[in-house]
Amino acid sequence: MCGIVGYAGGRPCRDILFQGLRKLEYRGYDSAGLSVISDDRLELLHSVGNLDNLEAILDQVGDKGTLGIAHTRWATHGRPSAENAHPHTDCTGRFAIVLNGIVENYLSLRATLQDEGHSFTSETDAEVVAHLIERAYQGSLRQAVVETYRQMEGHFAFCAIAADEPDVIVGMRKETPLVVGLGQGENFVASAVPAFLAETRAVVFPDDGDVVVVGRETVEIFDLDGKRVERLIQTVDWDDEAAEKAGYETFMLKEIHEQPAALADTLAERIAPDGRVALDGLGLSAEDIRRLERVIIVACGTSYHAGLIGEYALERWARVPVEVEVASEFRYRDPVIGPDCLCIAISQSGETADTLAAMRLARRAGAQVLALTNIVGSQATREADGVLFTRAGLEIGVAATKTFLTQVLAVLLFALWMGDRRGLLDGERVRSFTEELRRVPALLSDYLEGGAEGQIEEAAARYAAGRFFMVLGRDVGLPVALEGALKLKEISYVPTEACPAGEMKHGPIALLEEGSPVVVVATDGGVHDKLVSNVQEVRARGARIIAVTSEGNERLAEMADEVFQVPRTDEMLAPLVAVVPLQLFAYYVAKARGEKVDQPRNLAKTVTVE
Ligand code: F6R
Repeated sequence: MCGIVGYAGGRPCRDILFQGLRKLEYRGYDSAGLSVISDDRLELLHSVGNLDNLEAILDQVGDKGTLGIAHTRWATHGRPSAENAHPHTDCTGRFAIVLNGIVENYLSLRATLQDEGHSFTSETDAEVVAHLIERAYQGSLRQAVVETYRQMEGHFAFCAIAADEPDVIVGMRKETPLVVGLGQGENFVASAVPAFLAETRAVVFPDDGDVVVVGRETVEIFDLDGKRVERLIQTVDWDDEAAEKAGYETFMLKEIHEQPAALADTLAERIAPDGRVALDGLGLSAEDIRRLERVIIVACGTSYHAGLIGEYALERWARVPVEVEVASEFRYRDPVIGPDCLCIAISQSGETADTLAAMRLARRAGAQVLALTNIVGSQATREADGVLFTRAGLEIGVAATKTFLTQVLAVLLFALWMGDRRGLLDGERVRSFTEELRRVPALLSDYLEGGAEGQIEEAAARYAAGRFFMVLGRDVGLPVALEGALKLKEISYVPTEACPAGEMKHGPIALLEEGSPVVVVATDGGVHDKLVSNVQEVRARGARIIAVTSEGNERLAEMADEVFQVPRTDEMLAPLVAVVPLQLFAYYVAKARGEKVDQPRNLAKTVTVE
């Protein structure tokens, strides 16, 4: 979590740093700060709360300095406060650092430093870094940073500046993102590309243990022994506008509307002229696929729900046993894994700490690991045997929408590919699915541009004051129900229970009272009749039904209080359309309640701590 940005160049950097932070605010927003070197001394500014508060006092820092670092925080160690906000400084005020991640051994480091006479001003783990640099400094910030890095345990990325070396920022990373942006006569370093996307698209992704020395004219990278290393310069194809709201009132709403394009991009070139699925870079040979006995999917949150859809598809089409595991649990079990397993790690960011740990565990046990991610160069891509990219573009809204839909598409494509390679789906069958998949972006686009959204907004306003929602689904509609419930919880804060419709009478039905709103994912499929019976059970308790149904299905229309009809498609592909009214419903419930949709409380976009 947390966002870091640094600038070294010829322009006054206070405002450039602040604009960079604005682009990273989705990573954390409980406090913020920056430090700029001016006249060979460090100017510092801290504020509590989101970036508006920092902006209000920004002119307390002069606008002369042309090198600096900045940070927006998501608290791990120490409450949100001005003292705990980064940048942190050493005892002399000559060094400043910003850090993202966790220094696991900070307590022992802090105790040693205190015994040596260092005095601390914050409760954070990060402050030790400034003092370690102070202790190690002998005229070279780079050397002091390396010395400091060697003593740190955990996973983190940090950047340091020194008043005595006003022309460089030194950064390092360990299992946490750090990216360099290369400009003309100026350079950037940040936690994520959007921080400097308005200025440059030429980027370098340093490796763990690389020492990145960012100067005004040059960026040099060294290994821990001081040897120069070369890293590939890549061009990112996002533009800055993608990081803006493009006329929508929130990023989340914009991203919901970007879903047809995100699906089309993820699908592009993945359907061969013969209608079969073509996937590159998976790192799986024909022999691997033949001897595969089991698939384990590891993920967190929304990505876990995409994994559940993968389970249905892989079992149905590729006849391979699948387990879907919450990564934070899986990593601490003693799971039975071996070379006959394929572990698929789903993570839009590719940086989620628990998912990365679960991948590593599976890898150590001999499984092959495939990362399914949206972010090129992310940690997951570095640690996997193969990668399947979604192409959702940048997602800023904390609540995942378009990345989820593209994950679902990717797992469906993978399951078709696998079923075909294992000889379990004939060419005709695969072709019928891929033809249908090709139609989905246009179906969804028509749906979003039609009148559905207005209807959902009106319905949401009627239920927004409610104290509770229940969401039901069956079969492949169950992960959709879980995802719809998560959206409601995340952004509207209304307590929401999701459960398999058939499981309801084993307990959750007791929650229902006269008028309780129950959302039912009821698109057409093999279990539709069963679901209709469940709806009747709920109705008999006086609950109000909000049903998501396939276009033209009038059966539920008679029983439901609200019906959100979605375009008709194959039942296995239905999650691609059925989740959209639930995203919109959650969105408009949250909006009607006056919540800040893009920045839900207590959450951050990328969870790089366990
Ligand atoms: C929910 C949401 C989170 C993420 C989860 C995993 O809207 O965004 O639940 O899905 O934190 O993140 P990734 O996919 O980046 O591993």
